[in-house]
Amino acid sequence: MATTTVTIPPSSAALSEVVTLHINRREYRLAVKTNWTLDFVLREQLGLFGTKVGCERGDCGSCTILVGGTPMLACLMLAVECSGLAIETIEGLSQGAELSPLQQRFCEREAFQCGFCTPGFIMAAQGLLNANPHPSMEEVREAFAGHICTCGNLVRVVQAVTGGL
Ligand code: FES
Repeated sequence: MATTTVTIPPSSAALSEVVTLHINRREYRLAVKTNWTLDFVLREQLGLFGTKVGCERGDCGSCTILVGGTPMLACLMLAVECSGLAIETIEGLSQGAELSPLQQRFCEREAFQCGFCTPGFIMAAQGLLNANPHPSMEEVREAFAGHICTCGNLVRVVQAVTGGL
């Protein structure tokens, strides 16, 4: 595993802890405040802006990441609780400029409009495919139950996951 050491002193040392986070097969060691959520650390401390933040209270699914291959909501996780967990964000799916097969299918099906919710949908879909490589339409829809897309493009999103028409 590649190691990247990031040292970021929070403004109040009294509220900070040093954590080691394993993100996209890299290791990051950094100081975080104990009330910093994982989505905040991903975006504002590590520059991983692919994880989107909508509601910040577990209602929209935009911030979905994988923890140990399972979809989780980064806005509901504290960074200090994530030491040692295998975290994957949308940036971790591709190999450099080469999109993952799932990302490629989202592009081919044009399974997005504004794209804000897309990383969350893709991570939820990847989590589903990790557990069930051939999900039915119903299973895909169920996996997306906690995701909000105000563009109303869900039909294409489901098709991108199943490969169906
Ligand atoms: Fe996390 Fe909405 S930002 S569920």
